[in-house]
Amino acid sequence: MTIASNTGRSNVAMLGIGAYRPKRLVSNDEVCEVLDSSDEWIYERSGIRNRRWISGDETARSMAKIAGERAIANSGIPKEKIGALILASSSWKTKIPHGGPVVAYDLGMNGIPAYDIGAGCGGFGYGLGVAADTVRAGTAEYVLVIGMETMSVVMDPTDRGTAFIFGDGAGAVVVGPSEENGISPTVWGSDGENSSAIGQNYDIPEYMDVAQKMQHKDPATEPLDRMVVTMEGPRVFRWAAITLPKALGQVIELAGIDKSEIDVFVPHQANARINELMAKNLGLSDDIPVANDIENTGNTSAASIPLAMEEMLATGKAKAGQTALLLGFGAGLSYAGAVVTLPPAPKITSFDDLD
Ligand code: UT7
Repeated sequence: MTIASNTGRSNVAMLGIGAYRPKRLVSNDEVCEVLDSSDEWIYERSGIRNRRWISGDETARSMAKIAGERAIANSGIPKEKIGALILASSSWKTKIPHGGPVVAYDLGMNGIPAYDIGAGCGGFGYGLGVAADTVRAGTAEYVLVIGMETMSVVMDPTDRGTAFIFGDGAGAVVVGPSEENGISPTVWGSDGENSSAIGQNYDIPEYMDVAQKMQHKDPATEPLDRMVVTMEGPRVFRWAAITLPKALGQVIELAGIDKSEIDVFVPHQANARINELMAKNLGLSDDIPVANDIENTGNTSAASIPLAMEEMLATGKAKAGQTALLLGFGAGLSYAGAVVTLPPAPKITSFDDLD
């Protein structure tokens, strides 16, 4: 007896990208109506001027659906051919059920394997790697990977360590076979010894209106009765400074390229200062574009890399077919990186429906 095995395609790539940005733009000054901070401090330490938070009928679920729809439409792959969906997110409102099947249903793809990856801000890199290997193994021909977060719902607007950093949004890519390989092997890892550096206090709430949250002004007298993210920022910064340069070196080596062949650097949008340091330490030349979506989108955790790629492609800062170095990192602590070929510029962009 021989048990059958799959045969896939060794050359895979991102065939399309789509994203959704919440309509509400929140400036540093608005954040500082509640937070004891200033526009100058926030910009100097993090590179953030604005972030976007959900409002009205925008939810985690609606953003994931729209980003997924746009990625599929922009890829030109018929939806019926998508064989699996991976949702990278830490802010889906329930653990049971997980979000993947709900999003697949919303996208009119009920029945396909659909599941969540919880790897913090590194989640998109994990999802992309698993999707690429799923296609390589022949387990599915096309895989939709969605990174989505509603960080505004899970943060304390008075916490000086997190309130100014996080934003909401969703980005997605379709991964499938291609003539030339466009996704390198993934370099990924974790450091559970330092897991307490980014965490949570309580369980995730059903839904929390940001406007309602902003009224919560005095945690000393009104103890928090809902889950918020906690982060020892300087501890994460130190960990990042030691771990990430090694990971970046490994990504380039494993991809079999020379660093002079990198056209674009798209690191997780955690802090523009971390990204500037990484680019400098890596010795990337000054004219290599480095994603800076954080300036007006904030840190959207697992959504930040697809959002940043989409922004660069939509605005012409990066071009389809260029070679990009991606690196996600965050809670876990964990990280995942790869060298990729950028997908076609999106025909439908996340800026089309913004004012
Ligand atoms: O996405 C997941 C992965 N996350 C990350 O990679 C985040 C990594 N960490 C960071 O990005 C940075 O640590 C932060 C941006 C979060 C904070 O910047 P920092 O330069 O590390 O600030 P700090 O916490 O070391 O504080 C420096 C100073 C302190 O004052 P003194 O002791 O120097 O007088 C703080 O009390 O700034 C003060 N401070 C603030 N001032 C105004 C701390 N938070 C604030 C604030 N506004 N929000």
